Amino acid sequence: MKIQTTTSGPKRVTTRTIADLKKNRQAIACLTAYDFLTARLLDQAGIDLLLVGDSLGMVFQGHETTIPVTLDQMIYHALTVVRGVERAMVIVDMPFMSYQANDEEGFRNAGRVMKETGAGGVKFEGGSRIAKLVDMTVRAGIPVMGHLGLTPQSIHQFGGYQPRGATPEEAKRVLHDAKVLEEAGAFSLVLEKVPAELAKKVTKSLKIPTIGIGAGVHCDGQILVTPDVLGLYEDFHPRFVRKYAKLADDIRASIGNYVKDVKAKNFPGSKESY
Ligand code: KIV
Repeated sequence: MKIQTTTSGPKRVTTRTIADLKKNRQAIACLTAYDFLTARLLDQAGIDLLLVGDSLGMVFQGHETTIPVTLDQMIYHALTVVRGVERAMVIVDMPFMSYQANDEEGFRNAGRVMKETGAGGVKFEGGSRIAKLVDMTVRAGIPVMGHLGLTPQSIHQFGGYQPRGATPEEAKRVLHDAKVLEEAGAFSLVLEKVPAELAKKVTKSLKIPTIGIGAGVHCDGQILVTPDVLGLYEDFHPRFVRKYAKLADDIRASIGNYVKDVKAKNFPGSKESY
């Protein structure tokens, strides 16, 4: 296992780097990663933070939601990502029911992720309800990223993927929860699918950086799901995704050519043979 350290290779991104980026008004570029190869490419491209998101339940495992993902699966994926990374900070999502039953269990599971993966921290979804868990985890030396707004582990309770924080009461709750998480020691906060004006207000009222996904341009950083950005995942087209490639089309075309070559006995050629 490769532990995230700051002693060799490019200077490792840490909680301090992330805090400094906000202080210096420099945007924080984040993406999700679930495997060694992709993590290495994203790291080489200069990404600041990689989240081993439980979105892997949808874009890697093909489930409809993130709910079925297990802690063992997250640890497995995190191990492969950490191996691919030299610079970026790696954060691991705590999956559904790895911390909801009670704080003690969540705390121990976060410790397991840190011990077994070499990642740089964990992410929990939720606000005031998890304040004590965040506090315990941070005090044990584990960096915690918060996650408010649309929290996909509560999708059945919300009843859909509509934006959160659109009513004055919900907006007030998001702002309150953000402050509670900061006080509990979270080093950063994901804001998912909340109105841009609310994200701006939260960002201005916190010292820790906000990382937006569908939360407008005023957040301190942005995160997207990598297979969406690369045009690999075609089942879901939220308006906040910008596609930087069309890899699904590229893969179908390339593999179509490979299939044709194999069928026509055009592959392998003499230079590809021994
Ligand atoms: O699971 C995930 O990928 C996430 C991001 C969308 C923030 O939580």
